[in-house]
Amino acid sequence: MSETQGRRRFRLVLGPSSVALLATLALTPAHAQNRSAQTGAVTFAKDIAPIFQEKCELCHRAEGMAPMSLATYSEIRPWVRSIKAKVVGRDMPPWYVDKTVGIQKFANDRSLSDREIDLIARWVDGGALPGDPKDLPKAKAWPRDDVWQFAEYFGRPPDLVVKSPDYAMPAVSQDRWWEVRGTPAVPEDRWVAGTETRPARRSRKVVHHATTMLFQKETAEVRDLVRSARTGKIDPSVLYPSDKKDDPAKLLDPSPSGQAFSEWAVGKNGELYVEHDAGQFLRAGSEIGWDIHLNASGEATPVEVETAFWFYPKNTLPRYRAMMTPFGYAQSYDIDIPPGQVSRLEGYTTLPAPAIILNFQPHMHFRGKAFSMEAIYPDGRREVLNSVPQYRFNWHINYVYAKDSAPVLPRGTVIKTTAWHDNTAANKFNPDPAQWVTFGQRSVDEMAHANEVVIYISDADYERIVAERKKAGTTTQQQQQ
Ligand code: HEC
Repeated sequence: MSETQGRRRFRLVLGPSSVALLATLALTPAHAQNRSAQTGAVTFAKDIAPIFQEKCELCHRAEGMAPMSLATYSEIRPWVRSIKAKVVGRDMPPWYVDKTVGIQKFANDRSLSDREIDLIARWVDGGALPGDPKDLPKAKAWPRDDVWQFAEYFGRPPDLVVKSPDYAMPAVSQDRWWEVRGTPAVPEDRWVAGTETRPARRSRKVVHHATTMLFQKETAEVRDLVRSARTGKIDPSVLYPSDKKDDPAKLLDPSPSGQAFSEWAVGKNGELYVEHDAGQFLRAGSEIGWDIHLNASGEATPVEVETAFWFYPKNTLPRYRAMMTPFGYAQSYDIDIPPGQVSRLEGYTTLPAPAIILNFQPHMHFRGKAFSMEAIYPDGRREVLNSVPQYRFNWHINYVYAKDSAPVLPRGTVIKTTAWHDNTAANKFNPDPAQWVTFGQRSVDEMAHANEVVIYISDADYERIVAERKKAGTTTQQQQQ
């Protein structure tokens, strides 16, 4: 990397702290090396390799989606200046949820702790010493990419795998959205315990994200099924939130035009409803479709996405039904961002029953700037569940809560989403600050919702879970009162 390229790179990746950071980077390596030698030195073998294995190799390895492998010292050495800048600037690993507010325990957390960031910075400043090869951890054995990640959890391969029809993404193109439907799913009604969506390996460089859609009409038949479940494990008052009690079919057919079912984004495999004794319902004769957002990679690339399903056994019903819910979507039709402005849009959704929310996934496009999701409790108290103060359009991250940290909210809680968009020239993703931007599917249009998996639960279960959490000390603010 030439000096000029290096400078350009730093200018691109650094925020307001760039001046301070460049000053730090200007430390002479010789001076730094001496200092490290005196203090017992941070070395690659002892201190850094384990961090890289844990936090970087998922993407930075030979078959990963990142541009370079960071699996060995010789691969890493040429990148150390850039690595320090990206790590200290919290650009890498990609994890942009605010660490100072809201829920912090996630199942897929790959972020670095302050201590790890400090170690990496000190290691680079100290001359990026290799250390003693004897201290190196064993190379990490990554699961093969063509293996379903949840197969081990369920102890069996998926019960059903459906594949999208082939699509060819040209070498050079604007973003494309490939929407396809019509792939038959199952010949019989089944409850899904877990689902995994993934692009084929050869397609990963172009798949920005992929959502599996379910197209099904749920009518009297389903109503009967659920009614018969009254004697089984499903609590109907939970499946039919109060306002739809007299017409459950309405609730069970939330979106005849297709309902998001499972989603793939880097570092996230799918949904394990079974962990919360929940399931998604797949009705006989339903169709599966995909909504795939593609970025050209400079090479013509075939696109193929697969979705796998693990079912509950036929005679076992899950207690609850999980539903993908785009909080704030209804209000996002109001997006109206004048040229050169930063705008803010709020969305409000009242939970018709007590609920568990399984993830946090803000969804915006080029002008996305920041996003927060708050709970306004029935008694008026408010709590920020999570926020992303610096949204990065190119990272569509799904922050999946750990089982015991997923927020459990009382009936009547209002979920407030706030989306900030930046249509100024200061936003490096902004293709044209002179345009007036409104709602739409393309990246040059905007969106402003959070794609959440929601499980509505009974009042009794709400009380039980809150009590359990109180005991374990993992409560939300509301429940501590
Ligand atoms: C989830 C996948 C993922 C993880 C985890 C990840 N990276 Fe990256 N990294 C990428 C991708 C993709 C790019 C290139 C595009 C971009 O910068 O967004 C990248 C870019 C970089 C760059 C800039 C390369 C350049 O061209 O200047 C550095 C440095 C880097 N990563 C270091 C790290 C380090 C160090 C870690 C771990 C502490 C890490 N990354 C973890 C996916 C990842």
